[in-house]
Amino acid sequence: MKVHIKRSFDSSSSTYDSSCDIQRLVARHLAELITDKYENILEIGAGTGVFTDEIACKFPSADVTCVDISQALLNVAKEKHPHYKYICADGENLSLKNGGFDLLASSSTFQWFAKPEKSIPELINHLKPGGKFAFSIFAEGTFAEMSILNKMTGFGSVYNLRPDKAYMEILKGYDVKFETREYVLWFDTVKQFLKKQKGTGATFTGASKFTSKTSYQKFIELYPELFGENGKIPVTYKIFYCSGTV
Ligand SMILES: C[S@@+](CC[C@H](N)C(=O)[O-])C[C@H]1O[C@@H](n2cnc3c(N)ncnc32)[C@H](O)[C@@H]1O
Repeated sequence: MKVHIKRSFDSSSSTYDSSCDIQRLVARHLAELITDKYENILEIGAGTGVFTDEIACKFPSADVTCVDISQALLNVAKEKHPHYKYICADGENLSLKNGGFDLLASSSTFQWFAKPEKSIPELINHLKPGGKFAFSIFAEGTFAEMSILNKMTGFGSVYNLRPDKAYMEILKGYDVKFETREYVLWFDTVKQFLKKQKGTGATFTGASKFTSKTSYQKFIELYPELFGENGKIPVTYKIFYCSGTV
């Protein structure tokens, strides 16, 4: 599964930045939740550096280590912030020396983790005592419209996202604050939405890619019919945010 996720993101290196409308909004809000000053920051799932840009603005003199499973995306981030450290690795199997960071941050990434109940606490162990963490994670409820249409047409499968409560359970032992926000973005056409979604590389769903032309056509027709308003179609995203201390 990881190899498919990595491959999808690898292929989005030239389109991610012009497609990531929701991830940009999420990165901005996550940055707002991070207060105080930090010198040694670990970012997991840095991608092309969308959230890294926020970190760079807020903490211009910090040492930042960016981890991502996709080297192609990290190459884009490196062009923007050449002085940061970049590690291409699976964030669920990091072999960094634990304990050195004062902030651990990750935006729009942990939903791709296979075992977040194990790997998120392991990542938090990279913090020194008193260190802070802040995460944003796509949660169940994202693509609510597409989920309904998938059952009706067979097209538009949705990756199995965990409910926000699952992350609250994982983090309950820490001093932590939670927030879940729902966003609705409006697109001119279904095709425009599908193109943007493909552009972010977040296309792995675990389902077969082979769906018929008829299913696709039905999906394109039904989406505006069932959900459209004023000539636009809505896409719902549900994002879990948390910030805490160890
Ligand atoms: C939606 S992008 C978010 C990128 C960036 N944080 C942002 O806000 O735009 C998800 C990122 O997670 C990375 N990713 C997915 N699974 C990963 C894993 N197991 N370890 C490290 N990075 C991973 C992908 O390569 C991709 O860059």
